Amino acid sequence: MAEAEKKPKVLVTRKIPEKGLSLLREKVNLEIWPHDDIPIPRKELLSRAPSLHGIIALPSDSIDGEFFQRASLLKIVSHYAVGYDNIDVAEATKHHVVVTNTPDVLTQATADIAFALILGAARRTGEAERFLRSGKWQSWGPELLLGREVYGSTLGIVGLGRIGRAVAKRARGFDMSLCHTGNTPRDDLETGSRWLPLEELFRTAHIVSLHCPLTEKTRHLVNRKTLGLMKPGAILINTGRGGLVDQEALYEALSEGKLAAAGLDVFDPEPLPATHPLLTLENLMALPHIGSASVTAREGMAVMAARNILAVLVEGTAPLSRVMPE
Ligand code: DGY
Repeated sequence: MAEAEKKPKVLVTRKIPEKGLSLLREKVNLEIWPHDDIPIPRKELLSRAPSLHGIIALPSDSIDGEFFQRASLLKIVSHYAVGYDNIDVAEATKHHVVVTNTPDVLTQATADIAFALILGAARRTGEAERFLRSGKWQSWGPELLLGREVYGSTLGIVGLGRIGRAVAKRARGFDMSLCHTGNTPRDDLETGSRWLPLEELFRTAHIVSLHCPLTEKTRHLVNRKTLGLMKPGAILINTGRGGLVDQEALYEALSEGKLAAAGLDVFDPEPLPATHPLLTLENLMALPHIGSASVTAREGMAVMAARNILAVLVEGTAPLSRVMPE
């Protein structure tokens, strides 16, 4: 048998940093989808599935029952992200496939983007830059582009996990009062954040930031009802997943001026079409899902995704970050 055929075959569905790929090159038979900004087409993904022992998948890939059905040799889906709502974990379990993700290494980068959105949405920095570049700036103005102060305001965190907690720590530097909601009704001593029931959090916070996973329970957690509870002039931040927010309801709340602003790094669908009504709103700060897009985080994710592959396919050890129980 040729040497390459003895090695497990691993598909990487986009070119990820070399730091991770170089760990794999000698040890596995590596296939890399070469286009940087075009996801692997569905047909291509499915046609390659039968020969794969492992896959490094991205949030733009749908790894579902149909894929698992075809991937009869597959042992691991190593997800190049922390959120894995695009992977059918129940189907993976049924097919005895391990699913792993990349927590921790992207926490600080994502918390930075959440905070950039908090400041940007509150102080209208995106709108202000568009204003300047369009040649509309006539003079310093007492009422020009007035925003809201972040310092000393109340931040409500939905999901005080790794990223939510990192955002809370940044918020302490701005003397913000903190509250959070989640499954464990407990105040958090480390950050000084008060636990509140979800509805109470929406009533209390000046800024609500979403950091929970997208599941059937959390889909459209931000909807007409919860938006209706928010203080007039409140701000919504989402760096989690687009599906957490009912975008039609958010469009109404922003266009009617019920909310002062929103800062979103994630959308449903992605990419959000440039003609989407949300993008007509000046009080929306929108980013193209770049929460983890720092050099350090992306290299850390690549190394972690590669190590998870090696653990399962080469070393026969426990992966670093399995998303389902053993
Ligand atoms: C994640 O890891 O889930 C991020 O959204 C990817 O940037």
